Amino acid sequence: MTVCLFDAYGTLLDVHSAVARHADLLEPEAGAISSLWRSKQLEYSWVHALMGHHRDFWTLTQRALDHALMVYGVRDEMIRDELLQAYLNLEPYPDAVTCLQELKERGIRTAILSNGAPEMLEPAVRTAGLSDLLDAVLSIEEIGIYKPDPRVYQMGCDHFSVSPGSVVFLSSNPWDAAGAASFGFRATWVNRGGIPQEYPDSPPLDELEDLDAVAELID
Ligand code: LAC
Repeated sequence: MTVCLFDAYGTLLDVHSAVARHADLLEPEAGAISSLWRSKQLEYSWVHALMGHHRDFWTLTQRALDHALMVYGVRDEMIRDELLQAYLNLEPYPDAVTCLQELKERGIRTAILSNGAPEMLEPAVRTAGLSDLLDAVLSIEEIGIYKPDPRVYQMGCDHFSVSPGSVVFLSSNPWDAAGAASFGFRATWVNRGGIPQEYPDSPPLDELEDLDAVAELID
């Protein structure tokens, strides 16, 4: 029986909705701050992994924001706190909600498999209204290793006692879709930004522009 595993940040939850909520305080740099925040957050996760010094994703999210605010000369502590608070209450993509509802109606098991720390995933999933639509929220903190390490994807198999070929894995992050494909998942790249393919050695099995047509991928 097929299991659907979802990346959280950027796939179900809109990571740019935190800055968007406070854009008036950050214009004209709001978009640039949000992009740098996200890219540094990811970079820090991989750099710490390669150094062999794991730091949880919430710590790295805060450090990445501090860097982005410093680069753009924003020194207001209140704005920093508001942005972090907003990150714990990110907006879900509308197609994420309808996709999870449809999968639930069809009796397909679903979970998040995320680099996020439990203390950030829990409020984000709850306030986005996704808690009742998911069978599990799996955080890499259980093993202290970040995606795209194959041991993380194995966690998803272990949780549901299924083989990689029974898992449809959905991520908007090309590096995550590549990691999942390389592991043996039926990886679908949710190419929300319409960007060119990357990682030719581990191409995704499918590519969608959002989560609207996910149910059609599942037999
Ligand atoms: C996640 C981030 C990295 O794992 O997108 O949810």
